[in-house]
Amino acid sequence: MRTPLVAGNWKLNKTAAETKVLIEEMLPGLEAVSNVDNLICPSYLAIPAAAEMLKDSKVALGAQNVYWEEAGAFTGEVAPDMVAEFCEFVIIGHSERRAYFGETDESVNRRTKAALAHGLIPVVCVGETLAENEAGKTDEVVSRQMRDGLAGLGITSADQLVIAYEPVWAIGTGKAAYPEDASRVIGQSIRPVLAELFGDEIAQGIRVLYGGSVKPSNARDFFSEEEVDGALVGGASLKADDFIKITEAAA
Ligand code: 13P
Repeated sequence: MRTPLVAGNWKLNKTAAETKVLIEEMLPGLEAVSNVDNLICPSYLAIPAAAEMLKDSKVALGAQNVYWEEAGAFTGEVAPDMVAEFCEFVIIGHSERRAYFGETDESVNRRTKAALAHGLIPVVCVGETLAENEAGKTDEVVSRQMRDGLAGLGITSADQLVIAYEPVWAIGTGKAAYPEDASRVIGQSIRPVLAELFGDEIAQGIRVLYGGSVKPSNARDFFSEEEVDGALVGGASLKADDFIKITEAAA
């Protein structure tokens, strides 16, 4: 009942010109797969070019972050309506933002509220560090990130929100989580908090992705887990063939 979503987080990669080339390479292969939604999130400056290329396609466009203020003296920030002019989705609270740019559960909450207020679909990222994992704190950390990051949102339907469970130690390391562990965390610490916050029916419809070293060779194992509704892909989303294969695995 939840349509799988395969999303690419391109991070700090690809100029606008390079973005056009990569979209051209991957678009036909993505369009050929039905029953799977796709999302790509290039850098801000490549978004207008990407929007033009994707406008009649099944591939949705997202930004990698958004500020919570509408306008004003906030040098370097990008406002929600600026993102919403081109994008349907926005990634919020990625662990790289938390680790390098001071993002907290509170700022995640503010960004998420602002995104929703402008009709954007937030892809809110949660996940434990290696130290937290080894200390047996995964569920405590993930459920806290969920509760604090999503507090007070007025979600009225499941398609307004996407969650990505990305264990920090699995990102860019080539060492993915075991699919059954990812599924367990989602089933124990993510979906129950969604149910607390938004009620059971909405919680059952919200897509929860796994992210962290997803590649063509392991994608199928993740997607065969009941609780995993797709993937947020970093490195492999920058290779057209790999991203298409991951999308095919979701179908
Ligand atoms: P990798 O797929 O490169 O591990 O990155 C995952 C990620 O951070 C997606 O947001």
